[in-house]
Amino acid sequence: MAVRLSDQFLEQLRDRTDIEELIGEYVQLKRAGRLSKGLCPFHSEKTPSFVVYPDTRSYYCFGCTKGGDAITFIRDIENLDYIEAVKFLADRAGLQMPDEQYDDSLIKKKKRMLELNKEAARFFHEFMKTPQGKPGLDYWLGRGLSPKTITHFGLGYAPDGWEFMNHMRDKGYSNQELFEADLARKNDKGNYYANFRNRVMTPIIDLHGNVLGFGGRVLDNTKPKYINTKDTFVYKKGLHLFALNFAKSANEDSLILCEGYMDVIALHQAGFTNAVAGLGTALTDEQVRLISHYCSKVYLSYDSDEAGRTALKRSIDKLSKTNLAIHPLVYTEAKDPDEIIKKFGPERWKAILSGAMNETEYKLALCKEGLDISTDDGRAKYLRKAVPVLVPLGAIEKDIYASRLSEETSVTKEAIMARVNSLSRQQSGRYNKTDFAELSKEMNRRKGTTVAKVEGQRGLKAEETLLVTLKNNPDFLKKIEGDLTPEDFVSDVCRHIYSVFRERINSGQSIELDFLSSELSGEEMSVLVRMQNSEFDVTNTLEEAKTCVKILKDERRKREQPKGADLTDEDLSNLFKKEKN
Ligand code: UTP
Ligand code: MN
Repeated sequence: MAVRLSDQFLEQLRDRTDIEELIGEYVQLKRAGRLSKGLCPFHSEKTPSFVVYPDTRSYYCFGCTKGGDAITFIRDIENLDYIEAVKFLADRAGLQMPDEQYDDSLIKKKKRMLELNKEAARFFHEFMKTPQGKPGLDYWLGRGLSPKTITHFGLGYAPDGWEFMNHMRDKGYSNQELFEADLARKNDKGNYYANFRNRVMTPIIDLHGNVLGFGGRVLDNTKPKYINTKDTFVYKKGLHLFALNFAKSANEDSLILCEGYMDVIALHQAGFTNAVAGLGTALTDEQVRLISHYCSKVYLSYDSDEAGRTALKRSIDKLSKTNLAIHPLVYTEAKDPDEIIKKFGPERWKAILSGAMNETEYKLALCKEGLDISTDDGRAKYLRKAVPVLVPLGAIEKDIYASRLSEETSVTKEAIMARVNSLSRQQSGRYNKTDFAELSKEMNRRKGTTVAKVEGQRGLKAEETLLVTLKNNPDFLKKIEGDLTPEDFVSDVCRHIYSVFRERINSGQSIELDFLSSELSGEEMSVLVRMQNSEFDVTNTLEEAKTCVKILKDERRKREQPKGADLTDEDLSNLFKKEKN
């Protein structure tokens, strides 16, 4: 899609958008001199590494390396496309979008797909109430749902025959549109048929009340149990949580994260309206962000089978990196919340919530699993596993859990604390990332370091210096362009930034950040912002630019020669030590 908004319009938008104020609507920012800092909304963290630079109208996170301008921020945080993000900002600033200058077909397409989905949801719900839809209605009632709950969640039933396809075509939706919404599939002969047939239907609804897709369950035990809408223009699984549209207004400072649609529906019916579920993916960063936005405490309800336990551990690892209090729920008397409510009633569920372990208790329980702590051997093994759990805790918590461990193992608290402290010291002195990609990213991020021994590092620094110089002095291009081609650049990112710079400068356009986000990817914007705001010394002289060109040429020559020996892990960690000192 060719998006070309005029620089004049983008300039107006820029002038009416205060990036600090804008980001402040999403992130609690604290001014520190010329910058503002806060907790990054794009990854999980407990201490702020997200920086807003009002001067350059940009932001950058030193934790996850996301950065950009106002447009990329809105694009990422609201999950919009470029043009939608511009429209969002224009609306906010009271600016009229320029007519005809941009292609808004995608916006229209999305709107139409949402209408289509809503019509489909309406059809499934109404069809369930007809005599032919009785199997569906009976299924839901048989699961213990009240008519009120069925209506509240907009549950429905998809017929086995052609009624759905016919209805949607009568409403003016084409086969192709139904196909794109994943409500129809195509057979080998090119004929379209309904994707969901003879299934009870649960609509997936976003925070604005849009129907994004469906989960369709069989009425018996055949497989697959569920068919889910795959990702479409309007639906990206990992960005949503089922029932958050209801849960966000439950007056609770907590969410209950479940595995299944049925669990959530049963919990809501029983009065636990803060239940939500992931949508068939492992917990994503975006989902963690949503959770943190709405509460400070999260209960985790995963099935007690092996798969559930693995998923639980992964979710805990992810959530541990946030300030959220985590409470894994453990129960053995039934397999999921739906069953607990059905067998024992809401009171039991309430008791499970209030008796929930916290993160540390849960981790310690895992350490103890399978060990017989009535034996010396068992106690020793338990302690060995438990000590690392205490290391990241605050002083008071360390004290509490050391006491508990001491009681359990009859080892003195002092001895346990001594182990914890010595392990803390060891860990803080060591850097454990030896993975090359991580390492080079890390080094790359650090300003002003030249580590010529790492392959390409010299080139990386040269290309960054060159681009920053060029950004500050577009007129230098004429004097170096003859010698330099995009292929001389080391990284794809810088190569593309250079191409865009070159094209814009040569056609007399500005290369200010505010005009680039339609042409540069999110990653490219991030790199550009990092370079622009980093303090590594760029002299801004033509001489330096020329030196950089020489280095890039030089590096390219080396690159195209046969490779030398790769660095070993040991080399890398030695390098890293040197870096640290
Ligand atoms: P469950 O099997 O626990 O489903 O899967 P459930 O929602 O509790 O349904 P009942 O109680 O058996 O009727 C948990 C979630 O995993 C996804 C669905 O999102 C489901 O809600 N899932 C499960 C699928 O996507 N496909 C499947 O075939 C099974
Ligand atoms: Mn279930």
